[in-house]
Amino acid sequence: MSRAVEFKTSVALALCGLDVTPKKLQELVGREKPAGQHHMRYTPGDLRAARYRANKIDPDSANQLPLTTRTKPIPLMVSRMTKGGPGKTTISTNVAVAMAMMGYRVLCLDVDPQASMSNLLGVDTSYDSKITHIGHYLMRAEKSPDKDLKDAITPIYAGGFLDLIPADITLAETDASMVTVMASHARADLFLTRNRDYLAAHYDVIVVDTAPGTTPIGLAFTYAAKASGKVLTVVEPEGGACEPSTC
Ligand SMILES: Nc1ncnc2c1ncn2[C@@H]1O[C@H](COP(=O)(O)OP(=O)(O)OP(=O)(O)O)[C@@H](O)[C@H]1O
Ligand SMILES: [Mg+2]
Repeated sequence: MSRAVEFKTSVALALCGLDVTPKKLQELVGREKPAGQHHMRYTPGDLRAARYRANKIDPDSANQLPLTTRTKPIPLMVSRMTKGGPGKTTISTNVAVAMAMMGYRVLCLDVDPQASMSNLLGVDTSYDSKITHIGHYLMRAEKSPDKDLKDAITPIYAGGFLDLIPADITLAETDASMVTVMASHARADLFLTRNRDYLAAHYDVIVVDTAPGTTPIGLAFTYAAKASGKVLTVVEPEGGACEPSTC
């Protein structure tokens, strides 16, 4: 069950990234305050529409804009640090939530069997929960899109602004199997490439939370980020955590 998210005007003004008055924001959003409601409340979708209109783009046609092309892959942010516990999940999940609140469509990808990102977003990942995790797709070597990808996606915020592919402890089995998989370092890139059309149509950015250590799945997403994204490295300002070799 996804969550409806709304903001009062002062918060919406801070989140939309536009230097406008409250009146102008409402004008750009293009809707009146609902009858019986005391104050105007804005959704992430409103903020997205306001940004498009401020740039003279019809928000209804915005979904057809080519966000990615064959040469420009889907924006990807991968949290990565070999050391355990510096705050990778806390920071990457909060960055994802902040972007969703600003009106960007975000897919969170939990690739850590500890399932910390999934739990932080309120998803039950206990052993008998029925989730499809990323391991299901990483074990496939096909180049055609995953027809069942939608089934793995859990909506967190309404309107497709924050979705999650959750993890659970059984992802550790995939991690172990990946050691013997041919070109396992390239499997995340293969997953993103074969599902490019679906992902690009639904999301502006993908945020990946990896496990500590040098797990095959974590390395595969770090490798994918070389081609299409950024690695978010979280360090604590102390001793060995600051050495480049710990990434
Ligand atoms: N800025 C912070 N201040 C205080 N505590 C924090 C901060 N950021 C994270 N924590 C706490 O530190 C602990 C570890 O954080 P988190 O789970 O994000 O780390 P991690 O790097 O993802 O860990 P792991 O390597 O196990 O995946 C959590 O209990 C979290 O609530
Ligand atoms: Mg973590």
